[in-house]
Amino acid sequence: MHDLAIRTEDLTKSFGEIRALAGLDLEVARGEIFGLVGPDGAGKTTTMRLLSGLLRPDAGRAEVAGLDVVERTEDVRRLLGYLPQTFAMLHELTVAENIEYFADLYCIPRGQFAQRSDELLSATGLTEFTGRRADALSGGMGQKLALICSLIHRPQVLLLDEPTRGVDPVSRRDLWRIVYGLPAEDVTVLISTPYADEAERCNRLGVLVDGILQTVGTPQDLVARQTSRPIELQATEQRLARNALEKLGGVETVAVVGQALRITVRRDGPGPEEVLKALDGAGVEATEAHWAQPRLADALLAIAERCGKDG
Ligand SMILES: Nc1ncnc2c1ncn2[C@@H]1O[C@H](COP(=O)(O)OP(=O)(O)OP(=O)(O)O)[C@@H](O)[C@H]1O
Ligand SMILES: [Mg+2]
Repeated sequence: MHDLAIRTEDLTKSFGEIRALAGLDLEVARGEIFGLVGPDGAGKTTTMRLLSGLLRPDAGRAEVAGLDVVERTEDVRRLLGYLPQTFAMLHELTVAENIEYFADLYCIPRGQFAQRSDELLSATGLTEFTGRRADALSGGMGQKLALICSLIHRPQVLLLDEPTRGVDPVSRRDLWRIVYGLPAEDVTVLISTPYADEAERCNRLGVLVDGILQTVGTPQDLVARQTSRPIELQATEQRLARNALEKLGGVETVAVVGQALRITVRRDGPGPEEVLKALDGAGVEATEAHWAQPRLADALLAIAERCGKDG
């Protein structure tokens, strides 16, 4: 296969007035697990639909394994697996029947798909549920079935659009275990996720905001590029404290993390003691402010907020 699993050049798509994707240049190397992260409406799904040939670009081009998606749509579909954000399972069919249906879609002879199907059922832990109707599956099981259906034809490139949204933590871990194993089978993965802890597991990340690719790098790169620093503090009245912190000069982001508040401050912004003093001055009770370890979640939030302020 081509060394680049995915390559886009100036890829652009609008829906009426809305510019969903504005000149995307993206390269994903063969064997990578590449994460596409960004807030709602950033253009993640649009990117995947363009890559799968379901949408036509207004401008620019996309290649999968060296094949132009518009010119070679049928060939691209054969070597691509796509798990859309809303997966169209056949609810009245069983798990086994759904898998068969997708195998038929890809014209895989029965004899050939049995082994693949068994492998995937066992990897997802669904072997004993093959007779269960799809509409009786839990959210996590449904996503596992969707993943099986998108892998049944042994694709070279797999597009996963928020496959773990609304899935319980155990199923989320199971799904990731399978995703992790894919590069060893020579499958390249492009996955979108709203979760920073999942973004952390990708080899590289692209952060998309308002149809523009803001930054690309390893999760470590993105953390290292952060210019602001995190502080954690405790407040009795979280909501009051949050409002006060959002107004405080030098504070870039404010987030609630469990019982604590986590803020990031610019280099020239306040330190922990000054933050406590400022809150005290605003009549908000807060304690235990201290510098914290930088995290990917801070960096992703800061990028999204910075773009929100510009736009
Ligand atoms: N078929 C469509 N018709 C009109 N507007 C659309 C259509 N598809 C997407 N959009 C708009 O294009 C923009 C990008 O949408 P897209 O679905 O690609 O974002 P996303 O990053 O996948 O968001 P989410 O995290 O909510 O899934 C949004 O403003 C969306 O409303
Ligand atoms: Mg989407």
